[in-house]
Amino acid sequence: MRGGLIELASTGMWVPEKVLTNADLERMVDTTDEWITERTGIKERRIAGDDMTAVEMGYRAGKAAVADAGLEPADVDAIIVSTATPDRLLPATACDIQARLEARDAVAFDVWGACSGWLYAINIGSGLILSEQAETVLCVATEKMSAIVDWTDRATCVLFGDAAGATVLRRSGGNGHGILSTYMRSDGTLAELLYRSPLDSGSVPVDVAELAVRDGYLRMAGREVFKNAVRSMCEAVDAVLEKAGVTKDEIDLLVPHQANIRIIEATARYAGLSMDRVWVNVDRYGNTSSATIPVALHEAREAGRIEEGSLVLMVTFGAGLTWAGMLIRW
Ligand SMILES: CC(C)(COP(=O)(O)OP(=O)(O)OC[C@H]1O[C@@H](n2cnc3c(N)ncnc32)[C@H](O)[C@@H]1OP(=O)(O)O)[C@@H](O)C(=O)NCCC(=O)NCCS
Repeated sequence: MRGGLIELASTGMWVPEKVLTNADLERMVDTTDEWITERTGIKERRIAGDDMTAVEMGYRAGKAAVADAGLEPADVDAIIVSTATPDRLLPATACDIQARLEARDAVAFDVWGACSGWLYAINIGSGLILSEQAETVLCVATEKMSAIVDWTDRATCVLFGDAAGATVLRRSGGNGHGILSTYMRSDGTLAELLYRSPLDSGSVPVDVAELAVRDGYLRMAGREVFKNAVRSMCEAVDAVLEKAGVTKDEIDLLVPHQANIRIIEATARYAGLSMDRVWVNVDRYGNTSSATIPVALHEAREAGRIEEGSLVLMVTFGAGLTWAGMLIRW
């Protein structure tokens, strides 16, 4: 197998300390620990306080990834941030993170790929390196999902949590390491299955009927998203393996988007992998949108489940709908 040209040189993550358990949710909406556990596999999630921003979370994860690569923020040429929960719409979250990092010589911008955004960011970052516009690219996913879920809607509020994760990209050192294949797709005709309602337009006089629907909260057709998630992640599995000329039994670890244990299990079954070859942390963090994969990668490395030479398959899906896959030799 041919090695990749670009490698993920490091990982970093940050999660808030505050834990919100299913028992806590039982006191907030009409739900039970049993329902949430059976339908989703989620037992608890982390919640950032009012004083914690998406910028600060992303800064902490990004700083950790830069340090893990043995670099200083000043060495970073580009910062690409994936977030569905920016603290403000202008400027890009990446610019605010750049300022916190004091990475003065970098270009910084965001990508909107929902849960697929971090893999999209890596693909864009790889392109910057290959086109010799950057040597070192920091890709951050930071998601304060607690700020956009409707805490009175039991169908969505039990699913999500807050987290940030990051990696540094650079040219691969060779020896077969790095990104072996990637795949990105989207289907905008399915946008209505999962979206944030528009924010209040600020019209004066205030239109009360408009305010009721323009709240910026997440809306989701759960069952339809579920079906499309399994279909699109299986498609991504096939696409990246075929592009790389790799068979399913060669995969050391599957690191899927963590939305629901049943979606993860269905994808693993399709990939022919027993669950001991799948990294699962949805039980501890819930769905943290585009942060799930970098957080999972970091934890898997820390646990010794990803070592030099490990063949790691990442697949994801999200609002858009978007979906993506990536195969790397660590
Ligand atoms: C959301 C999801 C867990 C719901 O599970 P499901 O098995 O599809 O359940 P349904 O939506 O069919 O709802 C079944 C019943 O549970 C109820 N229900 C929904 N949320 C509930 C909750 N938190 N507690 C208790 N009951 C709940 C519904 O109202 C429904 O009741 P009804 O039959 O009386 O109408 C599941 O569809 C899912 O995970 N979808 C994908 C979501 C996702 O991954 N989104 C992020 C994409 S990045």
